[in-house]
Amino acid sequence: MKTVKRTKAADKLRCRAEQQLTLNPTAADASRLDDEPMRLLHELQVHQVELEMQNSELLQTRDRLETALEKYTDLYDFAPVCYITLTHAGEISAVNLAGASLLGGVRCRLIGRKFGTFVAAADRTAFAVFLDTVLTGRIKESCELVLLNKRKQPVIVQIEAMATASGQEFRLALIDITGRKNLEAHLMQAEKMETVVLLAGGIARDINDILHVIVGYGACSEMNMTADDPLRVNLDQIIAAADRGANLTKSLLNFSRMQPVNPLPVDVNEIIRDVESFLSMVTGEGIHLEIACSEQRLEVTADRGQLEQVIISLATNARHAMPGGGRLSILIEAVDIDNGFIRLHGFGETGKYAMLSVTDNGTGMDREIARKIFEPFFTSDNGTGTGLGLSIAYSIIRQHNGHIDVDSEPGKGTTFRIYLPLTGTGFDPDEIIPGNARS
Ligand SMILES: Nc1ncnc2c1ncn2[C@@H]1O[C@H](COP(=O)(O)OP(=O)(O)OP(=O)(O)O)[C@@H](O)[C@H]1O
Ligand SMILES: [Mg+2]
Repeated sequence: MKTVKRTKAADKLRCRAEQQLTLNPTAADASRLDDEPMRLLHELQVHQVELEMQNSELLQTRDRLETALEKYTDLYDFAPVCYITLTHAGEISAVNLAGASLLGGVRCRLIGRKFGTFVAAADRTAFAVFLDTVLTGRIKESCELVLLNKRKQPVIVQIEAMATASGQEFRLALIDITGRKNLEAHLMQAEKMETVVLLAGGIARDINDILHVIVGYGACSEMNMTADDPLRVNLDQIIAAADRGANLTKSLLNFSRMQPVNPLPVDVNEIIRDVESFLSMVTGEGIHLEIACSEQRLEVTADRGQLEQVIISLATNARHAMPGGGRLSILIEAVDIDNGFIRLHGFGETGKYAMLSVTDNGTGMDREIARKIFEPFFTSDNGTGTGLGLSIAYSIIRQHNGHIDVDSEPGKGTTFRIYLPLTGTGFDPDEIIPGNARS
């Protein structure tokens, strides 16, 4: 007969079952265990008690498991970190609430979708290599990449990933670091601009002095020349080139000037109305100009001339971006910059602002170009562009304690948004749009 090897736990269970049976008056009489039927009956009763005990333990264990699972599910669902599980083929097999909200979809619709479709095209190869490394390395790996959510907005995330023991799944923990990255980029940009402003200002002053000497001596020499002197043409060229140089250095000096020249209370709507006819001239025939002013007075403390220069510079750029014609829309409204806005955009201080946006439906720019456009001398117009227009605009807006940022998509168009702190009391707080309503 096959002997069954009993474990210690089984022995203990039997012991407990026997004890319980002796307490039960209906149990088989233990003194008659030499009697075979009685012994079998006793055995059966012991097994029955054993089974009842096991059953009750199982029920208790199930309850404990259910409580633990509930706790884990709550933590999983309400964690601020995004948790996503991917199959070996890169399909989403589980996602918590934070993950679903990051990707911008309903949870059940996300299941089965390829996670790679949310990764920005430029980062897809790097992400595939990352998953390979995670799979082969079998240790926790991390990377940063850009996802495009349902609304096709870029979200920069930090990902920590591990493969499961079977290698059949990947567990991903994602943190949205868009705000931090934007803040870092803005700080870097501000520091870079400060250095460039100092450098440009210093160089421009020195070169300007030199150019004045050239123009001055050139003009004197011309005065002493006869009208038909053959060298007069050369001198004209020298003076004209020096004049062009002086214009350039004037722009640089403008750019490096640290304070608005003439800051006065002014309504942003009024500035736009004043330059409207000039803007129509700048944009020309093939471009439809739409202006939507705010109904309320939006007073800021600003140098009117400098703000006009910024608007004209943006409109000129927009015209260049729409060689075949298009639409240029200018919108002015009051916005409330709150902490959510600051986290998302990486700039600003909380408060009420006048927001002026300039939108075109022209060529647009990719992310790489958009990152560089505020740098002095960055231009894609190598014919006549100096690449100073936007760096001057940036400098002017910063000098007014404001912010300028850009949203652009190749082939779709570009929106520049300027935020200037409201200083007047003439605005109606009920009409102010929360800043993150535009994000
Ligand atoms: N609305 C826009 N659409 C597409 N690209 C733009 C737009 N605005 C600016 N850019 C890009 O940013 C670059 C820098 O603009 P910026 O105004 O500083 O210089 P520029 O227009 O090239 O020269 P300048 O303003 O000195 O004549 C442009 O050359 C262009 O590549
Ligand atoms: Mg320009």
